[in-house]
Amino acid sequence: MTETAPKTLEKLLSSKGLEQAAVWVKKYPEERKRAAIIPIMTIVQEELGYLTQESMDAVADYLSCPKIAAYEVASFYSMFRLKEAGKYVISLCTNVSCMLAGSGDIKQWFQDELGIAPGETTSDGKFTLKEVECMAACGGAPMLEVDKQYHENLTVDKVAHLIHELK
Ligand code: FES
Repeated sequence: MTETAPKTLEKLLSSKGLEQAAVWVKKYPEERKRAAIIPIMTIVQEELGYLTQESMDAVADYLSCPKIAAYEVASFYSMFRLKEAGKYVISLCTNVSCMLAGSGDIKQWFQDELGIAPGETTSDGKFTLKEVECMAACGGAPMLEVDKQYHENLTVDKVAHLIHELK
């Protein structure tokens, strides 16, 4: 059995992605280049759809830091995905303010109408629901984020309309 060598970041990313990664690295002194780990992992996720172990290892090698540093970042921040997701990833905040303002009803709506619980993707691959911690928009609770846009002061009807628009 032949083992294939793990891919480097140069093999995983497009030339545009590599250029963007290089720009981020240049923002920091050489001995602190691991500080670019979040933006570079964001670039990887945007290109690959989610972070595989191979891609996290490649980022760590690229930044000359331990692989565990990449795993820690990927598992700590809710914007990173460790498995394939739907076309639209919906991050629903269920932290205290949003919970008190009705995020539970919205979560239930996703279950009833789209058949997905947090962590699941619709069978057509269109929507993935994620349950996330406070996204610093408590004044607009309950809220969710999709496609880098916050939607606040939600009701079940507003969510139904939003999802209908995305379909
Ligand atoms: S609790 Fe939901 S945004 Fe803060």
